[in-house]
This record gives sequence, structure tokens and C-alpha cells, in this order.
Amino acid sequence: MSLLDVRNLTVTYAGGAAAVRGVDLRLEAGRKLGLAGESGCGKSTLALALLRLLPAGARITGEVLLDGEDVLTMKWGRVRAVRWAGASVVFQGAMHSLNAVHRVGDQIAEPILLHRKATAAGAKRKTGELLEQVGLPPARADAYPHELSGGQRQRVMIAMALACAPRLIIADEPTTALDVMIQAQILRLIEQLVADQDLGLIMISHDLAVLADTCDRLAVMYAGRVVEEGPARQVYEDARHPYARALSAAFPRIGDPASRFAPQGLAGDPPDPAALPSGCTFHPRCQVALESCSEEDPVLRAAGPERRAACVLAGPPGAEDREAVQGARDRGERPSGTPEALEEARPGTP
Ligand SMILES: Nc1ncnc2c1ncn2[C@@H]1O[C@H](COP(=O)(O)OP(=O)(O)OP(=O)(O)O)[C@@H](O)[C@H]1O
Ligand SMILES: [Mg+2]
Repeated sequence: MSLLDVRNLTVTYAGGAAAVRGVDLRLEAGRKLGLAGESGCGKSTLALALLRLLPAGARITGEVLLDGEDVLTMKWGRVRAVRWAGASVVFQGAMHSLNAVHRVGDQIAEPILLHRKATAAGAKRKTGELLEQVGLPPARADAYPHELSGGQRQRVMIAMALACAPRLIIADEPTTALDVMIQAQILRLIEQLVADQDLGLIMISHDLAVLADTCDRLAVMYAGRVVEEGPARQVYEDARHPYARALSAAFPRIGDPASRFAPQGLAGDPPDPAALPSGCTFHPRCQVALESCSEEDPVLRAAGPERRAACVLAGPPGAEDREAVQGARDRGERPSGTPEALEEARPGTP
């Protein structure tokens, strides 16, 4: 069973259009998934939906199976417990997420007292240990958030996220507000903690290069959908979806001096969720769009071993075969085809 299995997840804000549209994603225990895509494509909405942290009025449909248990249908008491002990979130703005009038140590201790039923002395001891784990002296427990630097506050947020020993950490742009040196430190800290404790990680970032370095797999979102997903390095270096390729080309390559000076941009604006283009939502900005792309909305399908992409041009040689297999599956029919095609068309990630 996967640690996280997201099926056909759709999120619609009150009075708005769908911000996340039919997302399927899987994450195995102890693995790291990067989530990328331009501003407004639905990354944070997806992250918040996983733990039902969306504002009132937002409608979520689909399934979010965490260790096989659907977060979307569980009782609120269970959701609260899962938010600490199952999966926890590290947001970008630590100053807004911490309570300004409480010492940081008390804020870390609170979930330990509440969800782990620890004694006051036990929670204090555990708080000291957590601060040490994130590279802060235990005495900093007595500090108020404003007495800490941005990087230190983000370390406190990470300590809080680890307080009840979750199995999954969701980090939504955890370093965006920090300077480059501190960013690198915090990323290394997250990587090290995740490895030491064998945690699953979903890391959200605009920075594809960082995700390719940090994560095992990479999912690229466009207009509320995952349009490409696969092994992180492969998606970064050889994306199959034209949008993922454009996104990756926008980042300079280490070892390729030319790209440092000529990062390529992507023409056009991200689509308005309330007025999405017909067919493939990327077609008005796509450099290789076919005439049919304004009519047909491609589904995410096999685009190589362990890879999926939602583009009619994304299949490897012999893709027609796989396409036929996937089509049969989509229609609920028993597919026929070569063993390789059947294997590659298997839904989900290994
Ligand atoms: N609370 C909200 N109420 C209504 N619409 C919202 C709300 N939050 C986000 N949206 C809309 O949902 C869509 C997705 O937003 P979201 O914040 O998930 O994008 P994102 O990919 O995280 O962007 P960024 O990279 O800027 O953080 C956008 O069109 C946004 O305007
Ligand atoms: Mg966001």
C-alpha cells in the first residue's frame, strides 16, 4: 500500500472555478515527490486539500488515501490527529504560521501534549530534542518568534512539523522568503531529517532545479492538472510535455554556461481558471500544438517507463499501442496488447 494515494482530486473554491482538476498522484513511504508549476496552477491548493486545510466553502471531491485511510471522509477528530501524526505541513511564511505572543517552545510542545498525551516534563524534554534536531540550541525554546531570524523561525516550523513523528512532510515553498545561503541550509536540513527518519516528502517549489536535486520523482502541474510525472532527473532534463520542457528550460543548468545567460521564458499568461481554453489547456501557449489540440484534452498516460505525460505528442515510439491499452482501461474494458505496453500503461507510479 502506498503512503499517499491521491485519486481524481478536484478542488473548487466557493464561487470560483476548479483550482485542482482530477489529480492522481502516488507516493511510497520514505520517497520524495517534487511538485512544480507556475504561480496559480494549484500547488498550494492541492497541498492544503490533502489535510483538509482549505477555507470554508471549498469543495473537495476524490480520494486522499493516507496509509489506506481516506482523509476526505474521516471524522474531524481523526483529521486533527492525522494532521500531526500522519502528515504535517511546513508553510513558507513562518512568521504568519507561528503565534507571536507564545514562546516557540510552548508552540512546539502543544501538539506533543495534545496528541501524544505526554506529561509537561516529557513534552519539554521532547521539545529540546526537536530543537537540537533542527540545529537550534534547546534554550531557544524560551524565545518569542520575533526574537528569531527568518531561518531560525523556519527551523522552528520544521521542529513543529516533526513533533508527533509524522510519516509524511508536506513542504510548501519552505525556503521562498529566505536568502540563498539560508535556503540551502534549510533544504539540506529537510533532506537530512527526511532521510534519517525515513519520512515521505512532498516538496513544492517554483524551482525545478532544486526539486530535481532533492526529490526522487517530479510532478509538473498546469492549470490545476498534473501534466507530467516521472523520475525527477528525467523530467528535469528531458521533459515530455511541452509545458514541462518550457519550465525546465527557464532554469539555468549547472555545467552549461550558455544557459546561464539565456534562460528561455514562456510566452503568454497562465490561463484563467474560470475561462480555460478548450481542448488541451496549454495549446494556446504551446510551440508544437497540432490543430486537434484545441479540441482534444489529453489524459495523463504512459510516456515511457515510470513516466506519464498529458500530451498527444508525448508518447515514446510505439506509443499508439500503449495509447490503445490505456484507452481500453479508461473505458473499463479489458485491454489487449504487448506485455511491454500493458506494463507501461499500468496506472500510477511504481
Ligand atoms: N482562498 C482562495 N479562495 C479562492 N480562490 C483561491 C484561494 N486560494 C487560491 N485560489 C485560486 O486557486 C488557484 C490556485 O491557487 P494556488 O494558491 O493553489 O496556486 P499555487 O500553484 O500554489 O501558486 P503560487 O506558486 O503562487 O503559490 C488560483 O487561481 C487562485 O487564485
Ligand atoms: Mg502556493
